[in-house]
Amino acid sequence: MTQRTLVLVKPDGVMRQLSGTVIQAFEQKGLKLVGLKMMVMERALAEQHYAEHQGKSFFPGMVDFIVSGPIVAMVLEGPGAIKAVRDLMGATNPQDAAPGTIRGSLAVDITRNVVHGSDSPESASREIGLFFRPEELVSYVRPVDGWLSE
Ligand code: CDP
Ligand code: MG
Repeated sequence: MTQRTLVLVKPDGVMRQLSGTVIQAFEQKGLKLVGLKMMVMERALAEQHYAEHQGKSFFPGMVDFIVSGPIVAMVLEGPGAIKAVRDLMGATNPQDAAPGTIRGSLAVDITRNVVHGSDSPESASREIGLFFRPEELVSYVRPVDGWLSE
């Protein structure tokens, strides 16, 4: 099933010049980039984005961190894109993330874990709407799209 999902390169990833590495991991998988932008998140956007974690002990520190510098936001599309992104990201705590995953390869700290990816179809659609207007998402056909639909 074709899905769209939101990915963020968090401020640690941008500052460590890993934005390209993260995008490349998803492009090499075969996911299609359909939206891309850079910003410093407003605190209100960060609190909305992470609303499910309001009240948890790590919430204030996590919000402070995510607004502390630039992020790269993208929307990726493809068959099973939500799980594909989560699998490539690895476990939330980089110390538990499998070798070869983005977090397993590139991070050691649970807050500075390089990347965010939506965790369900409901989260994906909500989060995409927080970061992108519909007209900012680009629909296009790649040669490989024909192969996949055969
Ligand atoms: O990002 P993911 O969906 O894997 O994890 P989450 O449970 O939705 O938590 C969101 C983010 O909060 C994580 O990516 C961590 O950066 C941060 N976090 C943290 O700083 N300390 C924790 N104990 C748990 C999460
Ligand atoms: Mg999450």
